[in-house]
Amino acid sequence: MTQARFRGGIAGWPVGHSLSPVINAWWRREHGVTGSYEHLPCEGGEEEFRGLIARLKRDDFTGINVTIPHKENAYRAADTASDRAKALGVANTLVFSGGGVHADNTDEEGFHAAVMAAEPDRKTRALVLGAGGAAPAVCMALHRAGFETIDVTNRTRERAEALAARFGFLSTVVDWSDFVQDLSAYDLIVNTTSLGMHGQPPLAIDLSGVPDHMVVADIIYTPMETPLLAAAKARGLKTFNGLAMLAYQAVPGFEHWTGIRPTVTPELMAHLEDRL
Ligand code: ATR
Repeated sequence: MTQARFRGGIAGWPVGHSLSPVINAWWRREHGVTGSYEHLPCEGGEEEFRGLIARLKRDDFTGINVTIPHKENAYRAADTASDRAKALGVANTLVFSGGGVHADNTDEEGFHAAVMAAEPDRKTRALVLGAGGAAPAVCMALHRAGFETIDVTNRTRERAEALAARFGFLSTVVDWSDFVQDLSAYDLIVNTTSLGMHGQPPLAIDLSGVPDHMVVADIIYTPMETPLLAAAKARGLKTFNGLAMLAYQAVPGFEHWTGIRPTVTPELMAHLEDRL
C-alpha cells in the first residue's frame, strides 16, 4: 500500500557514512514519494536499539534499514519475520505497521542480484573468503544463483567450519593459508572479509593462474576498487564491488514501505559512485 508520507531511516553505529539515504532519496524523487529518510545513529547495545524502535513507532516511522551492529537486535525486536530473515537470524529491514514490527533480510537478495547482473560464464565452483557477519547471506545467494560447489575459507578456521555446519550446501573448508595456492578451479571468488577496506591491510592474492572467465567480487565499496579488484581488473577479469549489493538490497525495503518496486539503473549506480 502506498503511504501518503514516507518516513524512514538507517539505524546503526556508525551510520554517518551510509549511502542508504542517497538511494532512498533517488527512488523517492523518481516515483514522486514524499517523505524523509534519515541517519539514525544508535550507539550501544540491544537496550538502546529497542529504545530507538519504541521512539520510531511513536513517531510514525514507516520502516527502517538496519546495519552493523544492530542486525541481530533488529531481528529480535521484531514481532514477525520473513522466512529469509529467519534463515539468517538477522534483519536489515524493518517495517512498522499496525503497531507491530516486521523483520526482513534483503542482503541475500542484494548479493544474488549483483551476481546475476555480472552474468558469470560458469557456475561450477565458487570460493567465499571470510566467515563473518556478511558471509551467510553471500553463501545463500551463491547457492540460489546455481553454483554447484561452494567452498569457504577464513583466517579463523573454526568460524568457517561453523558456517559449513550450518549450511549443508557448503562443500569444503579451505585453510586460509592454502587458498592462495590454487584458485584455478574457481569460476567466482568473493571477499567478505574487511581486508582491502579503507584503513585495513589489502587482501593479497596472486591472480596470475586463475581462469580467464573468473568473476572476482568484493562486498566492500570503500574504496570502490579494493586492491583485490584492481588486481582482477589488471588481469582482465570481470569484477563487481559492494555498491551493487548495497543498491539491490535496498530494493525490497523500498517496496515494503511504499508498495513501489524500484529499479537499480546505471544512472543510480553512477550517482552513488559520485557520492563516495
Ligand atoms: P563484521 O561484523 O564487520 O562482518 P566479522 O563478523 O568479525 O565483522 O567479520 C570480519 C571478517 O573479516 C572475518 O571473516 C574475519 O576473519 P576472522 O573470523 O578470522 O576474524 C576477517 N578478517 C578481518 N581482519 C582480517 C585479517 N587481518 N586477515 C584475515 N581475515 C580478516
